[in-house]
Amino acid sequence: MQDFIAGLPKVELHLHIEGTLEPELMFELAQRNQVQIPFDSPEAVRNAYQFHNLQSFLDIYYQGANVLLHEQDFFDLTWAYLLRCQDDNVMHTEIFFDPQTHTDRGVSFETVINGIHGALVKGEQELGISSQLIMCFLRHLSEEAAFATLKMALPHKDKIVGVGLDSSELGHPPQKFEQVFAKALEEGFLTVAHAGEEGTPQNIRDTLSLLKVSRVDHGVACAKDESLMDELAQTRMPLTVCPLSNTKLKVFAQMQEHNIGQLLRRGLCVTVNSDDPAYFGGYMTDNFNAIADALPLTKDELAQFTLNAIEASFVDEAEKIAMV
Ligand code: ADE
Ligand code: ZN
Repeated sequence: MQDFIAGLPKVELHLHIEGTLEPELMFELAQRNQVQIPFDSPEAVRNAYQFHNLQSFLDIYYQGANVLLHEQDFFDLTWAYLLRCQDDNVMHTEIFFDPQTHTDRGVSFETVINGIHGALVKGEQELGISSQLIMCFLRHLSEEAAFATLKMALPHKDKIVGVGLDSSELGHPPQKFEQVFAKALEEGFLTVAHAGEEGTPQNIRDTLSLLKVSRVDHGVACAKDESLMDELAQTRMPLTVCPLSNTKLKVFAQMQEHNIGQLLRRGLCVTVNSDDPAYFGGYMTDNFNAIADALPLTKDELAQFTLNAIEASFVDEAEKIAMV
């Protein structure tokens, strides 16, 4: 099974570029940029990655991003991720970035996007990996701050396919961002949002109706609501599921309890993704191996995750056909 998974072409649709910051690169950038970090070795950083819920992860995650200051840093971060994509047979990836994590520290929007985009162009040319960028708003911040971020993105529309919503789901419902998502849609961006990771099925319903999303990020809470699962299956609304993330953040106590197989067999367009691989212990191949080890999934079902991801991706129809 491991050989089959290694050889399986993969498409990633839920990946936070800041979540690919490996402890070794964090140390290198801390030295290069003279930034203090509260650890004395990459091993110590890894040992600190014990999370009991989403918020306990986010607190450490936003701290880690402090070492990213210059365009070259964002380039190096993205290039290291693309090399991992090559190892894992990932042919296409749709990448989230969180501009507010950086602009709030005085790093310009241009520094962030030019560094990431430069690496993506090189990745397409030299590795043959295609990509898209999705800009996320941090939901623990205000809608006003999201509007200001959207404004910064407008001169870079050619590099950004859509907008998303991430960070703390509890206490920050989709209602809070209804106006800014409407404006983003008006400007021609596609929309996605994290929902039903720690939140309720109602959060997924509200995300669909208020934010007009093309995909739901995570969405695993839908299994608590039979009629919502039926609706998601009928409409083939994609869910970008992140198995290792879900067990690391205790959405499921163990992988054997994960519902991804159940959702797939019910006809939902579920996909496998790595979320924040440097923090959760694995990239795409690791996520596939983890579910294949713990759940009764056939090779056809594992391949179906890739077919679903192609269907759910934001490339045009001709490119989708070329990928199959
Ligand atoms: N930002 C990075 N990873 C996230 C996750 N799993 N949920 C919400 N926000 C995030
Ligand atoms: Zn995520």
